[in-house]
Amino acid sequence: MPGVTVELTVDSPDEMRELGRRLAGLLRAGDLVMLTGELGAGKTTLTRGLGEGLGVRGAVTSPTFVIARVHPSLGDGPPLVHVDAYRLGGGLDEMEDLDLDVSLADSVIVVEWGEGKVEELTEDRLHLLIHRAVGDTADEVRHVTLTGVGDRWATADLGALSA
Ligand SMILES: Nc1ncnc2c1ncn2[C@@H]1O[C@H](COP(=O)(O)OP(=O)(O)O)[C@@H](O)[C@H]1O
Ligand SMILES: [Mg+2]
Repeated sequence: MPGVTVELTVDSPDEMRELGRRLAGLLRAGDLVMLTGELGAGKTTLTRGLGEGLGVRGAVTSPTFVIARVHPSLGDGPPLVHVDAYRLGGGLDEMEDLDLDVSLADSVIVVEWGEGKVEELTEDRLHLLIHRAVGDTADEVRHVTLTGVGDRWATADLGALSA
């Protein structure tokens, strides 16, 4: 499946947060966003901006002691479900066992460390790979590769994110 791919350079934590805010503008209920990148890459920082952009309640933090946290909308938008799949061994079945109190189809779902575990949730998904390039002199520089998979993302304007 040909994915839509966009590559961005993000120079600081604030810029990463801003990217999250802009990305929120493209998201709607039922969307799945998968974040990949080493510890400290900026996955949670980006999700924080996403939460701000979506206008949800509660601070987005690393869900270290819980697998998933639900942030309800302060308005009439979708809730944000923030999942740390690191300890989610069994994948989808465990996700469904979490008793989240919200329907995933009605939520924006952001999953850290979800590869190989949550793809079955939906045929359409947006992958964000965040990495530091070897040789980057500034240690705040991150490279973000966004890949949209499925019809949902075939026509989405991911290029607008680099604005
Ligand atoms: N460009 C950047 N984008 C995001 N975080 C950055 C950036 N540069 C430095 N940082 C720092 O890296 C850390 C990222 O942490 P976090 O977002 O929790 O990562 P992850 O969830 O991927 O483990 C934070 O301390 C943040 O201040
Ligand atoms: Mg994190």
